[in-house]
Amino acid sequence: MSNASTIRCLITAGPTREFIDPVRFISNPSTGKMGFALADAAVEAGWTVDLIAGPVALEEPDGVILYPVVTAEEMYHQVDALFDACDILIMTAAVSDFRPVTQHAEKEKKGDASMTVEFERTIDILKTVCKRKAHQTVVGFAAETNNVVDYAKKKLTEKKMDWIVANKVGEPGAGFAADTNEVILIAADGSSAKLGPTSKAAIAKELIQLVTPISS
Ligand code: CTP
Repeated sequence: MSNASTIRCLITAGPTREFIDPVRFISNPSTGKMGFALADAAVEAGWTVDLIAGPVALEEPDGVILYPVVTAEEMYHQVDALFDACDILIMTAAVSDFRPVTQHAEKEKKGDASMTVEFERTIDILKTVCKRKAHQTVVGFAAETNNVVDYAKKKLTEKKMDWIVANKVGEPGAGFAADTNEVILIAADGSSAKLGPTSKAAIAKELIQLVTPISS
């Protein structure tokens, strides 16, 4: 059995924002609820928790060290700085996949014509840090509207994770912004467990028990 007091957990939560100019950005509907519920459950399990959060309107969970970030680049640098010391990384964050190629320093005036914004890929945080994965257990989330399990399994393999939580989004009662959720936890060996539908707090508790690192 692991000694719970020795487990150092790194959790990312919420969306990131990628700015076009100081008053406009691209983002997604993530509220951070699942990640914050996981942080609460991990603290309750006796783990040391570093929580990296994008812009969310949630209270800081008791007992965590909170690192607020805004952009995917900032989230990457914070994960990169804390990854080596963690025993388990849980990437709940809905990281923006694209950012504007140009971020204007001043507000762009709209004019009469339509506007075209060119986007470039942001760094894939999980994929990048997993390249130097050593003792860490890595848990990702897959937010999908369709083919949920197939797409999740593909990500699990491609990003070299130990577990992935397949999460259907875009329907009431699960995914972004809801207080409840229904997920499928898939292991690298292909075995899976369905959790919910129930509160995000209950799912978080169960997830923390199931993904507990064996040797830390
Ligand atoms: N993720 C990441 N860095 C990114 C995008 C995603 O680390 N730039 C992580 C997420 O935190 C999540 C996992 O990768 O744990 C899967 O994220 P998801 O948005 O479901 O998938 P993508 O890899 O972005 O692929 P796609 O958008 O094509 O579904």
